[in-house]
Amino acid sequence: MKGRGPLIAGLVLIAAGLVGIVGLYPVLRPGGMGVMMGTDGMMGRSGMKRMMQAMMGNMLPLGISPASLPQTHSEGARLMQRYCTQCHGLPGPGLHTAAEWPVVVARMAAREHMMSDQDMMGIQAPSAKEQATLLAYLRKHAQIPLNKATAKGLDTPAGRAFSETCSRCHALPDPVQHTAADWPAVVLRMQRNMVAMGKPVPPQSTLDAVDAYLRKYAKQPDT
Ligand code: HEC
Ligand code: HEC
Repeated sequence: MKGRGPLIAGLVLIAAGLVGIVGLYPVLRPGGMGVMMGTDGMMGRSGMKRMMQAMMGNMLPLGISPASLPQTHSEGARLMQRYCTQCHGLPGPGLHTAAEWPVVVARMAAREHMMSDQDMMGIQAPSAKEQATLLAYLRKHAQIPLNKATAKGLDTPAGRAFSETCSRCHALPDPVQHTAADWPAVVLRMQRNMVAMGKPVPPQSTLDAVDAYLRKYAKQPDT
């Protein structure tokens, strides 16, 4: 049976890289240790995920349900569920642009390889082919950033409400990603994301302005 040793070592490895010593700080604090030793559930993968959530929740992606992955039954979506939920919730492809994903996926892959090489926590790393499929999937369904140089109306009250509200967690989205009919549901989901991620939800008047901007520059239906 595995003790806490491998678990702590695993967390150190997971946190290695960008997190560095900042990410490890909670482990060193008495409170952090308490979390670590508090419950029996700390052993194994689910315990590790819970501990990571407690230690560095604000750095981890908000988990979405597998059913809300685009092309749910594609190979890419399947690989996402297999590899990208090992340490944290399932990330949505809209979190990053196609230009940003390679760096993020490479950082995750480095951890996965480090840990699977050390046989830690049963973490598995994708093969090179799987990794390419994963990356292609994420880039295909990535956030499409608004080109601020050519965008219209950003310097209006609605445009400013949109820029401020919608660039807090990912690149400022290009309104042509959805039709005017589809945007309200997305904005509603973003409000839920704000609540889940502990970010302030702007007042309704701001959200209405955001909605107006998105609908004005939205994709034309059936084009
Ligand atoms: C071995 C554990 C592990 C696995 C497996 C893993 N991650 Fe992560 N992930 C982390 C850690 C730790 C962080 C927080 C530190 C950081 O951002 O590097 C993180 C943070 C993130 C973030 C938020 C930070 C950012 O740059 O946006 C995203 C998005 C993310 N992971 C995507 C993925 C994807 C996609 C996969 C599957 C290809 C994946 N992760 C697999 C450990 C993992
Ligand atoms: C609190 C953080 C946060 C804020 C603020 C936020 N988003 Fe998001 N957004 C997310 C997360 C997390 C995802 C990936 C999961 C998902 O799709 O819900 C995402 C994904 C997206 C996507 C890609 C998925 C899709 O359905 O097309 C779009 C487009 C988007 N956001 C638009 C917006 C707009 C417009 C706003 C401003 C109203 C906004 N976001 C504000 C967190 C945020």
